Amino acid sequence: MFQSSMLTRVGLSFLLPVVYWLGQSHCLDNGLALTPPMGWMAWQRYRCNIDCDNYPDECISENLFKRMADALVSEGYKDVGYEYVIIDDCWLENKRGANGRLEPDKKRFPNGIKALSDYVHSKGLKFGIYEDYGTKTCAGFPGVIDNMKLDAQTFAEWEVDYVKLDGCYASVFSMDEGYREFGKYLNETGRPMVYSCSLPAYQEERKMQINFTNLAEVCNLWRNYDDIDDSWYSVSTIANYFATKQDLWTQYAGPGHWNDPDMLIIGNFGLSYEQSKAQMSIWAIIAAPLIMSNNLQNMKPEFKEILQNKKILAIDQDPLGIQGRRIYVEKNIETWTRPVTPVAEDKYSYAVAFVSKRTDGRAFPYNVTLSNIGLTNPYGYKFEDLFPDDVSNSRRARILERRHFQR
Ligand SMILES: *[C@@H]1O[C@H](CO)[C@@H](O)[C@H](O)[C@H]1NC(C)=O
Ligand SMILES: *[C@@H]1O[C@H](CO)[C@@H](O)[C@H](O)[C@H]1NC(C)=O
Ligand SMILES: *[C@@H]1O[C@H](CO)[C@@H](O)[C@H](O)[C@H]1NC(C)=O
Repeated sequence: MFQSSMLTRVGLSFLLPVVYWLGQSHCLDNGLALTPPMGWMAWQRYRCNIDCDNYPDECISENLFKRMADALVSEGYKDVGYEYVIIDDCWLENKRGANGRLEPDKKRFPNGIKALSDYVHSKGLKFGIYEDYGTKTCAGFPGVIDNMKLDAQTFAEWEVDYVKLDGCYASVFSMDEGYREFGKYLNETGRPMVYSCSLPAYQEERKMQINFTNLAEVCNLWRNYDDIDDSWYSVSTIANYFATKQDLWTQYAGPGHWNDPDMLIIGNFGLSYEQSKAQMSIWAIIAAPLIMSNNLQNMKPEFKEILQNKKILAIDQDPLGIQGRRIYVEKNIETWTRPVTPVAEDKYSYAVAFVSKRTDGRAFPYNVTLSNIGLTNPYGYKFEDLFPDDVSNSRRARILERRHFQR
């Protein structure tokens, strides 16, 4: 299969930058995630590997998170904005401690979670943790449902900055209220913690109607769909789901509250270089949280370059926080656009991603007109290719530009 993608920032000819903050009146207001959170999380790459005897470098342990915190700094990820180091499932002991508190696995986290949190903070990074709203986490460790207040307090004591709350072993019908309740306890600790919710993914599984008003009031981000896997099939299925449902929920994204298509898997085994560019482009267009799950210590340079492409990160992190859409599909080539700054005379600039799902490998360009993709500023646009190393993409952009100025 062949995919190619191009993310082009379309700037206005007459620049009068004006930044509008879009806000809905009753959204979660903890001052956090004003742009989509960026960081690293263990799950997709490392799963629930708890066998440190046989897999000392891959098992879920204090050691793994320390090494990834080190690599976020030494490999330049922190400098471009990745800041959260997030534990996923499989960090807990099988039972709560004598005092009813959550306890990490003693062998794999011998110094406890507070020490790990301190380590992450000492690197200038932020620290995230995983729990589950139900009676157990998805992997079977203790969940929060009967101890919500205590667990929120424990996280605050550990100086957690980000909490992902999963939804296994719970009634899907109590989740709207239950996630709200845990959010209230997080708030009452007085420690600002990004709150990542999973309920719509579970509600979607049951074909329930999802209350996005409630989500935006309660959560900083929410997982709309199933877990990502290490394949193009998984990435394109999620992207397609986002496009199919975009009229229902794009409008609920904004500073402080985001739809979450799940982790970036760039640099693992499943995506080619072109497919990796496609994931990065679509995720930036849909204002996705950029939470990598990969091995930062062993990353091929071309994948690192995609993950650290500052201009594409700036699209994802655009201060307007408007989630983009798939706007046009022709000949199996998708065009995705997102309104971004600068805004001039009430006209947005646009990020545009062309994602080809063609398999014929044709090496000469296709045409697209600006009006087809909804760009109607009578003054015209300036173009910049955000994957400038890619010769064929640059050529395509030039052709598009010439066509426009001829009209
Ligand atoms: C708690 O909620 C109030 C009201 O929305 C908000 O002003 C405050 O910043 C929140 N505090 C924390 C720690 O999240
Ligand atoms: C959705 O949630 C909001 C906020 O909690 C609530 O006011 C509203 O009644 C809910 N809508 C439905 C259809 O349940
Ligand atoms: C693209 O547009 C140009 C100029 O209108 C035209 O000459 C060319 O045939 C078109 N190419 C395709 C593939 O449609």
